[in-house]
Amino acid sequence: MTDTHPDTPTGGHVPVLLAEVLATLAPRDGATYCDGTFGGGGYATAILEAARCTLYAIDRDPDAIARGAALAARYAGRLHLLEGRFGEMLDLLAAAGVAALDGVVLDLGVSSFQIDEMERGFSFRGDGPLDMRMEKAGKSAADLVNTLDDSDLADILFTLGEERHSRRIARAIVAARAEAPIVTTGRLASIIRSVTPRDPSGMDRATRSFQALRLAVNDELGEVERGLDAAATLLAPGGRLVVVAFHSLEDRIVKRFMAGRTGRAGGASRHDPGALMSKGPAADFRLLTPRPLRPGEAETHANPRARSSRLRAIERLEPRDAA
Ligand SMILES: C[S@@+](CC[C@H](N)C(=O)[O-])C[C@H]1O[C@@H](n2cnc3c(N)ncnc32)[C@H](O)[C@@H]1O
Repeated sequence: MTDTHPDTPTGGHVPVLLAEVLATLAPRDGATYCDGTFGGGGYATAILEAARCTLYAIDRDPDAIARGAALAARYAGRLHLLEGRFGEMLDLLAAAGVAALDGVVLDLGVSSFQIDEMERGFSFRGDGPLDMRMEKAGKSAADLVNTLDDSDLADILFTLGEERHSRRIARAIVAARAEAPIVTTGRLASIIRSVTPRDPSGMDRATRSFQALRLAVNDELGEVERGLDAAATLLAPGGRLVVVAFHSLEDRIVKRFMAGRTGRAGGASRHDPGALMSKGPAADFRLLTPRPLRPGEAETHANPRARSSRLRAIERLEPRDAA
């Protein structure tokens, strides 16, 4: 999958695993879907083109919603944009008069629009305000970096960034901010690089800390948990939940959630992946992806950001089949 859909007006964002998302969701005429992460509208356009269906598309970033206005006009009556968090999907959809869905897609993380715009403060590759708020409201990354004590900072870097040098980096941040508050991405990145060894893989030494701060600022893992629960509540029998995750922390939550809802609370077994297909006592869904779908070489070559993505999906059972 190297190309976006011909009609996809994504501009700066190349949708990841688009063909796989479509094949797994399998949109049908007359059905109602929710895209919890509208972003550049890549998935949304493809879903609307694949069937005469209705799509409710959520994004917490006001810029994404504003950018989607042209698409909403093109698919007037079929595409409904909702600004808010997918963790609040139940309330957002209830307010729109929707109580059940035939499918939900979540493409977790940030869009290229957000990363590439230095003003948003997500990237360590350029310089911009240390912001990272998808919603453009609430506490920014600069608020966290300039106020948390060094042990709380180190905990965030360690748990959300899996950063081995978390304590050293936290101490360096606290020392640097005593001289002047850290308000730019460039300064934070150079503080991190100044106290950490080069990564043998060539990965920028600021990568993990920036990921950790972004996840903390936006409570992204909490959102994933709430979003999965809400989606499962809304899905009608036969309805599908399709989730694309970008890093291991998100993917672990998705994998455990899906294992639990398909009656495999212990999660996948490396030695018996087929057992994932069988349903246990609490199953109200069946697993569609005993192994996660991953991008092929052509896609990762064309879009390196796709490299670590994984797609997992479940389908709600008919009541007579549910245990
Ligand atoms: C990876 S992009 C989605 C790209 C989209 N699939 C496409 O094809 O263009 C993720 C988007 O989800 C949004 N987002 C992330 N977490 C969210 C949440 N909890 N609630 C609503 N939107 C969220 C981000 O603002 C971003 O626009």
